[in-house]
Amino acid sequence: MATLLAHVRYIVGAFVLLMIVALAVPANAQQPSSVNPTASSVKEEQLFQQMQRLEGRITIPDAKSSVLIQPAGQSWRQFHEVTLRWIGGIAVIGMLALLIMFYAVRGMIKISSGRSGRTITRFNSLERGVHWLTAISFVILAISGLNITFGKPLLLPLLGPEAFTKLSIAAKYAHNYLSFPFTLGLVFIFFMWIKDNIPGKIDIAWIKAGGGLVGSKHPPARRFNAGQKAVYWLVVLGGGAIAVTGYLLMFPFYGTGIAGMQLAQIIHGVVGVLLIAAMLAHIYIGTIGMEGAFDAMSTGEVDLNWAKEHHKLWVEEEMGGASGARARMSPAE
Ligand code: HEM
Repeated sequence: MATLLAHVRYIVGAFVLLMIVALAVPANAQQPSSVNPTASSVKEEQLFQQMQRLEGRITIPDAKSSVLIQPAGQSWRQFHEVTLRWIGGIAVIGMLALLIMFYAVRGMIKISSGRSGRTITRFNSLERGVHWLTAISFVILAISGLNITFGKPLLLPLLGPEAFTKLSIAAKYAHNYLSFPFTLGLVFIFFMWIKDNIPGKIDIAWIKAGGGLVGSKHPPARRFNAGQKAVYWLVVLGGGAIAVTGYLLMFPFYGTGIAGMQLAQIIHGVVGVLLIAAMLAHIYIGTIGMEGAFDAMSTGEVDLNWAKEHHKLWVEEEMGGASGARARMSPAE
């Protein structure tokens, strides 16, 4: 009897155990799908509100390496990935659209009295060399810079990760190394042309007359008109700001800390895209926008009628001045 009771106790015990396990297993099995994994954890937003930054502990001497996330980095990323793309997109596409419309309405500005067949030296070989050094490095800096801003959303989906990575590495090297000839060109441009780019009363008259872009009048100008002076100062000041901020980024922590570098990148990016838009207008007027203008930077010799129409006072100074100036005029080939 005692043995029977012992057996019954075992059977009941085993049954109860089975029931417990049977009830417990489905509850455990359901748990993963019913638990919200972030419900009890602290979210990034809450951490920022409490701590303003996420910082770990490190044993290396470089204390700044311990900072993982800081709030200013979030707003900088918003600028880099959203705001700058809007500013750049509107400036560059807007300028292209304006130039296309202007060309459709005005067409190429012709030399009113036709080519004279005689030319006058406008830029010597040093001036042209410096111009092309700066212009070529600017174009490559602009394209490689635009890749940093727009490459990920525009090119990555088209090229795929491998090709985009190779292109971006090459572009980054180009951006770093071409900064040096660009800066050298800027310094030369500043000293070479400053004396002809000081604003004066004559520039106000030129602006009032619409610079000859609207209508058929040609307001008088010396070597550079008000429009060209504006381009000069945009390049010198804008390019100068780009160079200073660019080197702050290229040599991190030498000149400034994180906040300073974020500001430098904002200035660099905004001035960069605005200067690209301005240079599109400059390239337009120097090529398809105005007959005879490109000669100034290709051969350095411009047609005398072109010079008289656009830079009357300069031609008078050149012709009426030293005898050497007269000798600079030659029949066109
Ligand atoms: C001295 C000349 C220059 C230097 C030293 C320089 C340097 C730099 C550096 C270090 C960066 C950051 C790259 C990175 O995030 O990996 C950068 C970005 C950039 N640069 Fe330059 N750069 C120069 C000239 C230019 C010029 C002339 C332009 C435009 C015409 C330009 C446009 C840009 C643009 C658009 C970015 C991307 C900004 C962004 O998306 O946040 N840069 N540059």
